[in-house]
Amino acid sequence: MDASAAPLRQLATPEERLSRTGTAPDGGLRGLPRPLHAAAQVGLLSAVASAILRPTYRSGRPLLTNRHELPVLLNRRGLLGSAVEIGVRAGEYSATILERWNGRLLISVDPWAEAPAGDYLDIANVDSATHEQLHAVARSRLARFGDRSEVWRMTGDDAAERISPRSLDFVYLDARHDRSSVEHDLATWLPRVRPGGVLAGHDYLDGDFPPHGDFGVRSAVDGYFAGAGLRVHATLADRPWVSWFVLIP
Ligand SMILES: C[S@@+](CC[C@H](N)C(=O)[O-])C[C@H]1O[C@@H](n2cnc3c(N)ncnc32)[C@H](O)[C@@H]1O
Repeated sequence: MDASAAPLRQLATPEERLSRTGTAPDGGLRGLPRPLHAAAQVGLLSAVASAILRPTYRSGRPLLTNRHELPVLLNRRGLLGSAVEIGVRAGEYSATILERWNGRLLISVDPWAEAPAGDYLDIANVDSATHEQLHAVARSRLARFGDRSEVWRMTGDDAAERISPRSLDFVYLDARHDRSSVEHDLATWLPRVRPGGVLAGHDYLDGDFPPHGDFGVRSAVDGYFAGAGLRVHATLADRPWVSWFVLIP
């Protein structure tokens, strides 16, 4: 974790940091507490598996271990223009994308605004003061990427109005996780992805998972793309917080 992310240490529980941000980092094993040591070793295995699977990335059936490989897939497919992440929180995955992707611009979209609990049942629905801190952390974390990074403080719907149809190489959906919100985001963002691009998202699962929230992502994604006749791919080694992705024809 970089110095700019320091305020996050008081915000995120260890469980949250380990379970929702993806695979544990490789390297730096010495000196880690025992549970983190084990997690890092899993990360090492995952890195080896990813290297073995990378030759599939240009094919119609790419095999990805985890979401950290999505930027590599974009590089391999020559998708190096503009991308959007919807739902940014502290900017951890936006930073991962920008570190691992050779593309020109990532727009990170989040309103950083509290919603009524009954309306948005998710661990990410925090109070206004915490949102202000998360926004500051995200901006600080992404500042080092210069003009390759733009942070738009607004809803996904407002951002979509500013983006031309069929213009994006990559969209990653990670905002609200209930079924109707995900269906809405799919309908909003699919038309913004260019032919040959990739539409993807986090938390490809259904069910109530306290304290994380109520998820209907899997049924929304499967239903939506079954109707369109498109194959939904899933990352292989990051259960339960699997990512899904679709290659847009
Ligand atoms: C699970 S967090 C995102 C985590 C981030 N993608 C990552 O992996 O590091 C969900 C975020 O979605 C945001 N969000 C909620 N409603 C949204 C909307 N309508 N448009 C964009 N973002 C939204 C929340 O403010 C919250 O920060």
